[in-house]
Amino acid sequence: MALITSPESILEITLAAMQGTEDQRLKTLITSLTKHLHQFVLENQLTELEFERALQFIVGIGQATGKNTNEVVLAADILGVSSLVSTINNLDLDGGSYAALLGPFWRKNAPLCAWGENISRTDLGGQSMEVRGRILDESKMPVADAIVDVWHSSPVGFYENQDERQEDMNLRGRFKTNQEGDFFFTTIRPSGYPVPTNGPCGELLRAQRRHPNRPAHIHFMISKPGYKVLITQVFDSVDENLESDPVFGVSKQLVGEYLTDSVSGICQLNHSFVLQAGEMIFPAPPIP
Ligand code: BEZ
Ligand code: FE
Repeated sequence: MALITSPESILEITLAAMQGTEDQRLKTLITSLTKHLHQFVLENQLTELEFERALQFIVGIGQATGKNTNEVVLAADILGVSSLVSTINNLDLDGGSYAALLGPFWRKNAPLCAWGENISRTDLGGQSMEVRGRILDESKMPVADAIVDVWHSSPVGFYENQDERQEDMNLRGRFKTNQEGDFFFTTIRPSGYPVPTNGPCGELLRAQRRHPNRPAHIHFMISKPGYKVLITQVFDSVDENLESDPVFGVSKQLVGEYLTDSVSGICQLNHSFVLQAGEMIFPAPPIP
């Protein structure tokens, strides 16, 4: 192995040490990451104090991750990386994306529900809501027997696992599409909410003078064997934070019309989703 002769020589020596990596994809990714990190340090002439602070941030996001929150996912989210990964892997025909980031609050095994079932199992007040939609394939044919897994926050912006008042799995459920590819559930209208700000990510947002408030939305994870799992969100078109989402999840296609029926007073959302052919691979749940 060569010895260091200049700051730049460290990259060459480091990459040479990694040459034996057997997994070619791992080799490509770590080589690229190492190059970018070295370039970042050189370009910014990173001080030792700044380096220490960066390492503390990484340790901090790990330590702040626990049963009810995943600060590591949140860090990727507020840096726009989660949104970038979900967009490039789910491009639609117009160059946009059907997908949006998973976020830290998806839980596996939400209750399997019947057509039209109400997922609001704890009385929290709020506006009643009906959500309907159709699942289509890329040739616009309906997809029957797809599983539509939904989760959202309460009318005051808390997920069930952040709020002792809500019963386990409140505002979460899985619905099956019928022969027309349709699904239907009832719930209460979610509100926007701040991403968790009590950890290192909150500190970073404050330093950047960014507000933490996500626009109101409902999460969807749609799956059926033979199709890529579609992870997405549908946002409330009247929310004031659509263009300043702290985790950059909002695209034009994902803004839904949350319309209040003038007779019943019920909020109604109708939104269709397109599944792309591919392998059905589920993400690891960020929280149990
Ligand atoms: C969410 O939508 O659940 C979420 C996404 C990113 C960070 C925090 C929450
Ligand atoms: Fe959310």
